Amino acid sequence: MDNMQANGNALESAKQQEIIEELSKQYALEEEKTGKKKTYHIVTFGCQMNSRDSEKISGILKQIGYEETDSEDADFILYNTCTVRENANNKVYGHLGYVGKLKEKNPDMLIAICGCMMQEPQAVERIKEKYKFVDIIFGTHNIFKLAELLRTRLLSDRVVIDLWKDTDMIVEDLPSDRKYSFKAGVNIMYGCNNFCSYCIVPYVRGRERSRNPEDIIAEIKDLASDGVVEVMLLGQNVNSYGKNLEKPMTFAMLLREIEKIDGIERIRFMTSHPKDLSQELIDVMKDSKKICKHLHLPLQSGSTRLLKIMNRRYTKEGYLDLVDRIRTAIPDISLTTDIIVGFPGETEEDFQETLDVVEKACYESAFTFLYSKRTGTPAAAMENQVEESVAKERFDRLLKLVKKCSAKAAGKDQNTVQKVLVEEINTQNPNLLTGRLSNNLLVHFKGDESLIGKIVDVYLEESKGFYYMGKLMEQ
Ligand code: 5AD
Ligand code: SF4
Repeated sequence: MDNMQANGNALESAKQQEIIEELSKQYALEEEKTGKKKTYHIVTFGCQMNSRDSEKISGILKQIGYEETDSEDADFILYNTCTVRENANNKVYGHLGYVGKLKEKNPDMLIAICGCMMQEPQAVERIKEKYKFVDIIFGTHNIFKLAELLRTRLLSDRVVIDLWKDTDMIVEDLPSDRKYSFKAGVNIMYGCNNFCSYCIVPYVRGRERSRNPEDIIAEIKDLASDGVVEVMLLGQNVNSYGKNLEKPMTFAMLLREIEKIDGIERIRFMTSHPKDLSQELIDVMKDSKKICKHLHLPLQSGSTRLLKIMNRRYTKEGYLDLVDRIRTAIPDISLTTDIIVGFPGETEEDFQETLDVVEKACYESAFTFLYSKRTGTPAAAMENQVEESVAKERFDRLLKLVKKCSAKAAGKDQNTVQKVLVEEINTQNPNLLTGRLSNNLLVHFKGDESLIGKIVDVYLEESKGFYYMGKLMEQ
């Protein structure tokens, strides 16, 4: 990013701050009159990028004077959408049907819809036509403008639509409302340049843009002084971090800098593309005391033939060799993955190759997806789409194998003492705490609420496949 651009970004964030202040005065006056604060609720779909964006939305709304509520029956309801698979879109339409009825009873209610789905012209057309009660529509590139869009909506009676095709702006320094006090997501880059042939993300999140390392470090130092002990570095493909910076820098170099920050005890990142995962990164992970022993390494398919058509730019052998090098260098690492079943033209032989990689890579866990046709992607136009029943049958077989492998892999640390970051009171049993191991598995154990946010030693008594039951050690 050059200087002029950086100045432009700073000016934009100052402008938004001014609008937030203006609105907050207006909202305070109204609160005085009515005696109550206006409420908001955000429904977030999709990945951790979206969760992070929702924290930013939440930060802006709280500064304006809104108060969060658990129910969709709020003064301002926002849907932060995902469009990576068709069923994500369908869920949004379901919610809109419901909220339309709520608005009939409460016409002052404001409804906004934003996120990846709004970067798709067909989805926006459908909303404009069928869900006329939506007040504000914006996309993935201009979340920072929410206060401005809200002000425009309050001043006019018409739907406000602000959609950008792409951007080179990175506007930060706006409020953000973190879900946890002790761990935080940090965007290190936006967008994706890979154009895997099935994937809509490059079309809805735009081209790859890395944040300046100084800005990332400053943000993490601030988080650390605020009590955050774990950061999750976020990007569609973190392994290509820094390639488009004025002074190029690798992701491994960035990790080394973050490692030096006092107070940060754990570093995670998401997602890695196998084609860009360097030996330098493996070496940094191996030597690090803070980088967690977990790598999410999407496979998508084990068939070299299909990987080529998917435009993944690695082979089955290349992937397995990478897994081998990682497991040799860092024996206690846990590997997880994403796999798509039923990509156009997938044959039983191709599918067998996928099963073979799953068996050999010994994943701790895997997210498995039925291929979903996304309009506008090259794969959607391919003629040899796999029949649904065939894809489903393969999906079930894959799931069985994944479960078998993860049960085998997950028990590895039974009867050892491990460091655990205590995250919350167990959702099923309030007498238990739930924490996370460095390798991302969960542990449930007896302990006092005051330990939440702390890293403690826990004896892993019993493996339950996907999680452990443990015993808190004398601290
Ligand atoms: N169909 C099914 N799964 C998909 N993914 C991305 N696009 C599609 C699609 N069209 C999966 C990939 C990716 C994860 C986030 O979603 O496995 O890694
Ligand atoms: Fe989609 Fe591929 Fe980019 Fe991941 S790397 S977001 S799968 S295009």
